Formats: sequence, structure tokens, C-alpha cells
Amino acid sequence: MRILTFLSFVLLLMHQSFSLSRAQCRSCEQTSCNCSGQNLTTVPEAPSTLITELDLSFNRLQTIVKNDFVAFSRLQSLIVNNNRIQKIHDEAFVPLTNLEKLDLSFNRLATLSAGWFENLFSLHHLNLLGNKYKMLGQGNVFQPLKSLRTLHFGGPDLQSVRKSDFSGLSVLEEVVFDGKNLRYYAEGSLRQIGPLKFVTLGLNGPFWGNQKLVEAILSDVVHQNTTLTFTDTWFSTEDQILPLKMAHRGGATSIIFKDVILTVSATMAFLHIMSDSNLTKLALVDTKLLLSSLRSIEYPQHFNCLEDIVLKNVGVPQFYNFPVFFLGPLVGMVRRVSLLNCKLFLWPCEYSADYSNLEYIDVSDNLLSDLAFSEMMCDGNGGLWTLQTINVSRNHLQSINSQLFTKLNKLKNIDMSGNAFHSLPATCYWPPSLQFLNLSSTHLPKVTTCLPVTLRILDLSDNDLTVFNVKLPFLTELYISGNKIVTLPDGVLYPRLTFLSIQNNDLQTFSSKTLNHYSNLKSLEAGANKYICSCDFLAFMTSPRVTFGDDSKSYVCDSPDAVRGSRVAEARLSVFECHTALAFSLLCSGFLVVFLLVAGLCHKFSVVWYLKMTWYWLRAKRKPKLKKGELEYDAFVSYSEMDSGWVDAHLVPELEQTEPPLRLCLHKRDFVPGGWILDNIMEAIEKSHKTLFVLSPHFVSSEWCKYELDYTHFRVFDQNDDTVVLILLEPIDKETIPKKFCKLRRLMNSRTYLEWPDDDDQIPRFWHSLKTAIKRPDNGNCVRFDNVDF
Ligand SMILES: *[C@@H]1O[C@H](CO)[C@@H](O)[C@H](O)[C@H]1NC(C)=O
Ligand SMILES: *[C@@H]1O[C@H](CO)[C@@H](O)[C@H](O)[C@H]1NC(C)=O
Ligand SMILES: *[C@@H]1O[C@H](CO)[C@@H](O)[C@H](O)[C@H]1NC(C)=O
Ligand SMILES: *[C@@H]1O[C@H](CO)[C@@H](O)[C@H](O)[C@H]1NC(C)=O
Ligand SMILES: *[C@@H]1O[C@H](CO)[C@@H](O)[C@H](O)[C@H]1NC(C)=O
Ligand SMILES: *[C@@H]1O[C@H](CO)[C@@H](O)[C@H](O)[C@H]1NC(C)=O
Repeated sequence: MRILTFLSFVLLLMHQSFSLSRAQCRSCEQTSCNCSGQNLTTVPEAPSTLITELDLSFNRLQTIVKNDFVAFSRLQSLIVNNNRIQKIHDEAFVPLTNLEKLDLSFNRLATLSAGWFENLFSLHHLNLLGNKYKMLGQGNVFQPLKSLRTLHFGGPDLQSVRKSDFSGLSVLEEVVFDGKNLRYYAEGSLRQIGPLKFVTLGLNGPFWGNQKLVEAILSDVVHQNTTLTFTDTWFSTEDQILPLKMAHRGGATSIIFKDVILTVSATMAFLHIMSDSNLTKLALVDTKLLLSSLRSIEYPQHFNCLEDIVLKNVGVPQFYNFPVFFLGPLVGMVRRVSLLNCKLFLWPCEYSADYSNLEYIDVSDNLLSDLAFSEMMCDGNGGLWTLQTINVSRNHLQSINSQLFTKLNKLKNIDMSGNAFHSLPATCYWPPSLQFLNLSSTHLPKVTTCLPVTLRILDLSDNDLTVFNVKLPFLTELYISGNKIVTLPDGVLYPRLTFLSIQNNDLQTFSSKTLNHYSNLKSLEAGANKYICSCDFLAFMTSPRVTFGDDSKSYVCDSPDAVRGSRVAEARLSVFECHTALAFSLLCSGFLVVFLLVAGLCHKFSVVWYLKMTWYWLRAKRKPKLKKGELEYDAFVSYSEMDSGWVDAHLVPELEQTEPPLRLCLHKRDFVPGGWILDNIMEAIEKSHKTLFVLSPHFVSSEWCKYELDYTHFRVFDQNDDTVVLILLEPIDKETIPKKFCKLRRLMNSRTYLEWPDDDDQIPRFWHSLKTAIKRPDNGNCVRFDNVDF
């Protein structure tokens, strides 16, 4: 038993240390985790089973164990390049049946195991570059990868490639093959896959030392539909280029040198080998050209097929007038030339005059000034007659000289974007064939009639325009994003416009009315503006007449405050904001009703009276209390009008006509005429020794009596004296007294009262008791007033 407990304890510990050792990835979103560069040493825990993308690149993983990806079964993309992985468990990738992309490049894998790929039926992209394996497993490793489209393999340690290595790869389209130290290649290995669209070869070592091997590979991969790229190689001598005769022989049409070093003599040897070939496109990208000796520049004459030359990021360290001088004659043979980011600052007119085939020139990202460009175009008076497209974007031009183009009557497209023009001339002279003009990012503050009316497509994005109002009747596409435009241009000026891009301006609104002026508009991109989300605008946006081409997330309200920052598609305004007049009048009537209600209630419950009474009471509290001698009356009599008969007939005669006479204060007689009744009541109570309440069912129903009672009651509690005398004229059932007379109830409970007797014999005793209750040592005056009216 003990052993069992111990064992389970140990198991528990092991389990815990296992789960504890799982690292956490700090940057996961709903379905993707990018844990790149987080110093991870193990595969992190899956935050959910929904993760489809996991990037573990640039960490410190060394081994991948069996259960690492059990929780990642939905994974489509797994990126683990640039770790230190030496070992991957054979079954580690078994759960990943949905995986489409697997990047294991730049690790330390010394062997490839067939087990890894057994379940990866969906894999499209596999990258195994830069590891330590000497060969591609034991053969047939990629056999299960029936969907594989791109395969990157090889590295400094790869020594041999055998035929069985590529069996089963039936739909492969692209291969990147690093064989810089390859020693053995079985002929036919890559051929069995069939023609590939893209083949990239890094065969520096074989090019230097084993040309047969290069030839074998080339004869397998060259095909008229294959783009062939040579990379990571130093071509120094003419001999080194010789294996490329296989490219000629195989009918290669497209060859790219990328990340290579080429000497001029090697380049010339290449051109001679390829002369009369089917080569149509030649590109040098990220390449350094070394001028060994200029003597060797001697161009072959036959490039019947060559159409397109692309030089991008090509540097010639020792030469100032590159690359036109170097390429000059070659450019004369082709139809399209691109010299991108090559530090080009001069293109002599004499070359242009010779170039009678050129249809397309792209000299983007160079150093051409106004003067140099004018020279290149021979001041508009010679050469380049066949030109259809010219791209001088991102050079050092400062002014638009349309006369350089006027005579080029085939010119359709001009791209001058990214130059700092700062202004448009008032009038210009464009060729009538011009259809496309790109003036984006050229610091233009306004447009003029310089813009050619023949234009179909105009790009004026990222300038400083505040209005756009030039009539262009043939325009079909207009790009004016990234300006400061406040209103949509008038659609009447652009009857054929089908596409308008006006994102990221100061646009505040548009409506179906303004859009109706665009009779042909199909697609509108107008996100990232400062929309005033009026009700009309929001209503329009829920069922727009045009298609919005851009992401609806970029349509955000700038005002009103209630919806600022929320997306137009989700913004909701309240009824109040949408029907302001109606809502306002409703609100006003609401207020009126409430006001009337409150006024009515105040009236009903005499709130004003209570307030005033409280005020009096507070004042009375602060006033020094009248001394006995200053009191004017012996008693203030509070009674209901209905009981005035009894008061006049019995009470007044009995009390005022005895000896000594008592002074009563009666509202009918003694109140100051014209004064406010409440003032009178309170004053009377203040000035009286006692307050006499004549209670009867009538009293209970009289409001004024109630107030008198209230005020007295305040005093009773406040001063704690004994000023109240209750006379019960007719019996009242205490239970029938309405609730609001709670004070009366309490008074009746708390003190004894005098009952008006039914029996006449008892009456003298009643008067005696009453007089005793009222009597005080000395008498004040009670001024008489007659005809006091309530
Ligand atoms: C992950 O983030 C790095 C930068 O931290 C970025 O370079 C990489 O492209 C990202 N990976 C994915 C799959 O987006
Ligand atoms: C990874 O470790 C290195 C060296 O220990 C440190 O400089 C770096 O900041 C760490 N990076 C992260 C993301 O923790
Ligand atoms: C090469 O490509 C062209 C056009 O893309 C296609 O018509 C032709 O069949 C392809 N040739 C081969 C042999 O695949
Ligand atoms: C070159 O192209 C032509 C015409 O397309 C074709 O007949 C010829 O076979 C190709 N040459 C090679 C070596 O493939
Ligand atoms: C001109 O070159 C720039 C930069 O390479 C590119 O973005 C643009 O599309 C090109 N324009 C044309 C008309 O090809
Ligand atoms: C205009 O040029 C810019 C920058 O070169 C480019 O990004 C844009 O796509 C071009 N516009 C069109 C309509 O091709």
C-alpha cells in the first residue's frame, strides 16, 4: 500500500514538473501565436485549441518531443527557423494533419526522418534550408507529401542527392536548392518531378570545382516555362559560366542572378553563351558587378528573343557611369528595361537616340535630376519614339517638363511619383496618347489644367491637395488618397469614373445625392476619413449604392461625441439625435407635464405652506421667546368654520365676559386684514399663552386648522412646553381621523382633553376646567379687529 502511495506521489510530481516546464507564449491572438524571439527553450503551452499559426522562430529550442504539438492539432503554419534544434521525435508532427506550412530552416538537424512527414497530408510549403544533414534522409522521405508545392532544402553540409529523395512529389512547383558543397547528384533526380515553375540554385562550390555536377542539375531543371535563379555564388571566370550552356540547350527563357557577385568577363561569357538562345528575360538582383577589364566588353549580336532586362540593386563599385554605358548595346536590343535603385544619374541622349525598340523604361529609385532626365529624353527632340511607358518615380526631379514627352506619340503611361515637384505648371503639353499619369507623393498643393484631359487613370495620392476639381471626361480611375480633401469631388466632372480612392483625407460626409453625380462609379475606397456620423450618413452607409472596396473597419466616426471612434458600420445614434425636432418637442412637453404635476402636487399637499412654516419656525426658534408679560392673548382659538356657532355662542361669552376676562384671539376678529393668513396664524400662536383647539369632525376636515395644529405641534416638540389645550366638542372616533392627521392622533393620545358635556349639569365644570387650563398670572391685550375675511 505504501509503495503504491509513494508511486502515485512520484507520478504526480513528474506530471507537475512536466506541466510546469511548459513555457508560455506572451503574444497570442485569437488564432495565432507569434512567439518569435522570446528565448523559449521548449514549445510553449497552447492557449487554446484554435491556434492555426505558431511562430517560434529565433528561440532556443533544442529538441522537439513527442507531445509538443498535441494541443495544436488545428495548426496550419508552424515556423521554427533559427533555433538550435538537433532532435525531433519521430511522432512529434503526427497531430498536425492540417499543417500547410512548416519552416525548420537554420537549425542543427543532422538527419531527416521519414516519420516526421508521415501525417502531413496538407503540407504545401516545407523549408529545410541551413541544417546539418548530409543527405535527405534514408530515401523517400517526402513520399507522403502529396500536396507539396514548394520545397527548400540543402545547406553547407549537404553532400549528396539521390533519385529516391524526390519520389512522390507530383505537384511541386518551386524548389530552392542550397548545394554549395554538394559532391554527388544522381542524374534525373529533379527531372522526375516534372517541369517546375521556379528553381533557385545555390551551387557556388560546384560552379568552382565540379562543373559536371552543375550541368547534370541544370539539364534536369531547365525548361522553357521555368524561371531559373542562381544565388549565393561568385562568378569570376569565363570558364565558370560554361555549365550554363545547358540553359541555352534546355530552352531557358527566364534567368535571374540574385545575391551573386559577377565579374564583367563572366557576364560577357554568359551573354555569349546565351546568344541566339530563347532567353527572353534576364534579371540581376542584389548583385555586385566587378569590372575586371573593360577590354572584354564585346557584345554578342544575336538576342532575337531577349525582351526584358531588369537590374535591381546592382552595384558597380569601380565605375561611375553605370549601368547604361555597360549595358548600352544590350538595351538597344530589348523592348523593356528596368534599372531600379542602381544609382543611375546619367543616361546620355546618344544612347536614347539608338534605342528604337524600347517600349518600357523603368528607372525608379535612382539619382536623375531635371537636367539628367532632360538629357535622357534628348530634350524631347530625338529617340525613344516607340516608348509606351516611362517610370521615373523616386528620382531627384523638381519640375514637370511635359515638353519632353510631347512628341512621343505612343506614350501611354508616365509615372513620376515620389519626386518633389511642389507645384504643377499652369499649362502643359502632353502627347495625345497619354492615358496614365502617376503624380503621387510629389508635394502638390493644388491641381491645374496641366493635367491631360486624355487621362484614363490618374494617381495624385499623398499630396497636399485640399480640393480636386479639374474636368477629366475620360477618367475611369482616380486615386486621391492621403490628401486633405474635405468634400467629394463633383461627379459631373468625371462621367466615366468607375473607381475612386479617397482614403485618408478630411472627408466629413457624403450622401446618395453626391454619389449620384458619378454615373458610372462601381467601387469607392473612402476609409480613414473624419466622418461626421449624421443619421442620414449612417442610413446611407447601411445600404450604399456603390461597393466599398476597402476594409469596412477603416470607416470610423469622428463625431458626434457619442459615437466618436466607433466604426461606421456599428455606430448607432439614439432616436433623440436622429429626430432632434420631434424629440425636443416631446422632451419639452414631458418637462411641462412633470412641472404641472409637481405644481399640482405642491398645491395639493401645501408644500409651499410647509416650507414657509419651516422658515417661520426656524425664525421663531432664533427669536427670543416672548416673556409672559409680552403675550397679548390668553389663548388663540383654532376652530373650524362649521363650529363657529358654538364658539360665538358659548366659548367667547363664557371666557371673555367672566371676571377677570380672558383675552382670546379669534381669526375672524383679530387677524390683521390684508396680511398673509399664515403670518397671522403664526403670529397669533406666538403671541398667545395657549392654543385652544376645538376638535370636532369638522375640524378634522378643515385644512387651515390642520396647519395651525402643525405649527403648534412644532412648538410643542420644540419648546417642550404645555401650550396646547384640546376641547372635544363632539366625540371623534380616533380611528376615523384620516392618516394625514397623525399629529392630531398623537396629540390626543399624549394629552388629556376636555370634553364638551352632553349633560347640561356638567357644563359649569367644563368651563371651570377650561379657565384653569388657560389662565395665566397676568394678562396682555388682545386688540380687536372686526370683519376679518379669510
Ligand atoms: C512574428 O514577429 C516577428 C517580429 O517580432 C516578425 O518578423 C514575424 O514576421 C512575425 N511572424 C508572423 C508569422 O507574423
Ligand atoms: C533573451 O536573452 C538575451 C540574453 O540572455 C537577452 O539579452 C534578451 O533580452 C532576452 N530576450 C527576451 C525577449 O527575453
Ligand atoms: C508552358 O507554359 C505555357 C503558357 O503558360 C503553356 O501553354 C505550356 O503548355 C507550358 N509548357 C509546358 C511544357 O508545360
Ligand atoms: C525556342 O523556342 C522555339 C519557339 O518557341 C522552339 O521552337 C524551340 O524549340 C525552343 N528552343 C529550345 C532549345 O527549347
Ligand atoms: C514605377 O515604379 C514604382 C516603384 O518601383 C512602382 O511602384 C510603380 O508601380 C511603377 N509604375 C509603373 C507604371 O509601372
Ligand atoms: C503610383 O506610384 C506609387 C508609388 O510609386 C505606387 O505605389 C502606386 O501603386 C502607383 N499608382 C498606380 C495607380 O499604379
